[in-house]
Amino acid sequence: MTRGLRRRLTSYGDQDFSLFLRKAFIKAMGYSDDALDRPIVGISNTYSDYNPCHGNVPQLIEAAKRGVMLAGGMPMVFPTMSIHESFASPTSMFLRNLMAMETEEMVRAQPMDAVILIGGCDKTIPAQVMAAASSEVPAIILPTGPMDTGNHRGERLGACTDCRRLWAQYRADAISGEEIAEINGRLASSVGTCTVMGTASTMAAMVEAMGLTLPMSGSAPATSSERARLAEETGRAAVAMTETGLTTAQVLSTNALRNGLVTLQALGGSTNAVVHLAAIYGRLGMKLDLAEFDRIGRQVPVLVDLKPSGSGYMGEFHAAGGVPRLLSELTDLLDLSAPRAFGGTLGDAIAGLPVRFEEQVIRPRANPISRSGAIAVLSGNLAPRGAVIKHSAADPNLQVHEGRAVVFESVEDMTQRLEDTSLDIAADDVLVLRNAGPKGAPGMPEAGYIPIPRHLARQGVKDMVRISDARMSGTAFGTVVLHITPEAADGGPLAAVRTGDRIRLDVPNRQLELLVDAAELENRMKALPPPPPAPERGYAQLYDRHVTQADDGVDFDFLMASARG
Ligand code: FES
Repeated sequence: MTRGLRRRLTSYGDQDFSLFLRKAFIKAMGYSDDALDRPIVGISNTYSDYNPCHGNVPQLIEAAKRGVMLAGGMPMVFPTMSIHESFASPTSMFLRNLMAMETEEMVRAQPMDAVILIGGCDKTIPAQVMAAASSEVPAIILPTGPMDTGNHRGERLGACTDCRRLWAQYRADAISGEEIAEINGRLASSVGTCTVMGTASTMAAMVEAMGLTLPMSGSAPATSSERARLAEETGRAAVAMTETGLTTAQVLSTNALRNGLVTLQALGGSTNAVVHLAAIYGRLGMKLDLAEFDRIGRQVPVLVDLKPSGSGYMGEFHAAGGVPRLLSELTDLLDLSAPRAFGGTLGDAIAGLPVRFEEQVIRPRANPISRSGAIAVLSGNLAPRGAVIKHSAADPNLQVHEGRAVVFESVEDMTQRLEDTSLDIAADDVLVLRNAGPKGAPGMPEAGYIPIPRHLARQGVKDMVRISDARMSGTAFGTVVLHITPEAADGGPLAAVRTGDRIRLDVPNRQLELLVDAAELENRMKALPPPPPAPERGYAQLYDRHVTQADDGVDFDFLMASARG
C-alpha cells in the first residue's frame, strides 16, 4: 500500500516528479528526510475566533502532535471549517454538510495514513464522522470537551439549559434586565462545549460508545489536564492506526451503530443526534430504522441525571466514570465485541473499571431516572415518515393531550406574534410551527422549542405542546414534537394545518394526529400555494436541490452511499 508522502500524489503525469516536487516544497518547512519517511498523521485544526467551544484546540493540537511524535509518526496539522451554534447564519445545520464535504475532501486530497479529527460544538463531530465514514483514511475523533460551570448568586450555571431557563424567567418578568445582563457573563465560564447533555455532549459520548474515540474522551472537561493527556494518547493511538488501516466504515458496523442508539437513549441525549445518526447510516449505505430506535427506547432506561432531562452537569458525569461506567450498566443491551477504531473492542472499555462510588449521576439499572429511554418516535397523519419527542424532558401531564392548533407560518411569524399580548391563545392550545424544516427555513433551525407566549409565561405557564418540522437544541426541554417528516415545505401535511383544528398527541401510543378527515386534508393539500423560487446561486442552491429530509439525516442525496440496506 502506498504510504506517507507517496499517498495521493498531485497529478502532473509523472509520479516520480510529483513526489520530488512535493518533497521539495515541504522541505521549505524545515522537515528532514527522516521525518518525511514516517507514517503521517493528519490533525484537523478547527480552531476559530468565532468558536469558543473549540477555544482549547491549539493546546489539543500540541498534545496530539506530541503523542504522534512519541510514537514515531509525523504529525501534519491542516485547517478545516469550524462551526459554532451561535455564529452560523442562517443555522449551523445549513453548514454541517459543507463541513462534512470539506473535511472528507481535505482528508482524501492530502497525504495522511491516519487522521485525528478535533471536534466539539454540535455540528462538528457529526460532520467529521460523516466525512470519516465516506473516507478510506483511518480516523479517530478528539472531542474538545465540556466547559466549566459558573455561579450566579450561589446558583450553579452552565450553558445552555440554564440560558433558556433563565431567559424564560426574564420574559416572564421574574428576573430584571440588570440581573439577566449579569447572568449573561456567567453562563459560559470557560472554553469548551455546552456542559449539559446537549447535542455536543451527546455526540461526544456516542462516538465513544461507537469506538471512534478513546475511553473518557467523551466527557473529560475542556480545561482539564486529563483532556490534554487524552489528546497526547490520541496522537499515539493514531500512529498505531496507520498500521491497522481500519476505516470508520469498518468500525461502524450495524451493531456498533446500534450501540450508539442504546447509549443515546440511556444518556437522555439530544434529539439532534437522531438526525446526525441517520446521516451517518446513510453514508454507510444503511437507513436508520426509526421504529427500531423507538423499540430500543422502550427497553433502555434513562440512567444519566444531567440537564436537561435531569439536574447535573458534564463534570459530574465525567467524575462518576463517564461513558465506560454508563456502558457497564447496559452490557446486556450492547454488542461488546464491536471493534474500536484504535484497537480492541467496546468490552475492553469497561473491563477493570474501579469500584462504583456514586449512584446519583450515573444510576444503576435498578434505580433509573425513567424506566424507558429519552426519545420516542411518533407517527400519524401529521407525520407520515415520523417525528420525535424527548419525553424524558417533557411535562408528564402533557404526554396525552388534545388541543386547538395555533399555527405559525414561519420562524419570523412566530417571533413577531408570540410577543403580541393580544394573541388569541390558551395554555391548553397546541403551538404549531411550519416551514422550519431542512428546506423550508432553510437549515432546519433549532426553533422547535417555541417560547411560551409572553402573556401566558407571565401567568406562570411553563410548558405547552409544541409541534414543528424544526429541530430543538439538545439543551432545551418541554413537550416539544420535532422533525415532522416530510416537512411542510416538502409536501408534508403539516402545511395543511389551520388555526382552530384539533391536534392529538399520545406519546405512550406514539401517535400524532390532526383531527381533520382525510378528504378535507387532501383538498387542503391540493389548494396549497406553489413553493417559493429556489436560491439562484452558490451553496444555497446546492443545498436546496440536494438536501434530504430528517429521516435521511438532512444529508445531501449525492453524499449518501448508493447501496441502501
Ligand atoms: Fe457549542 Fe453548545 S454552542 S456546544
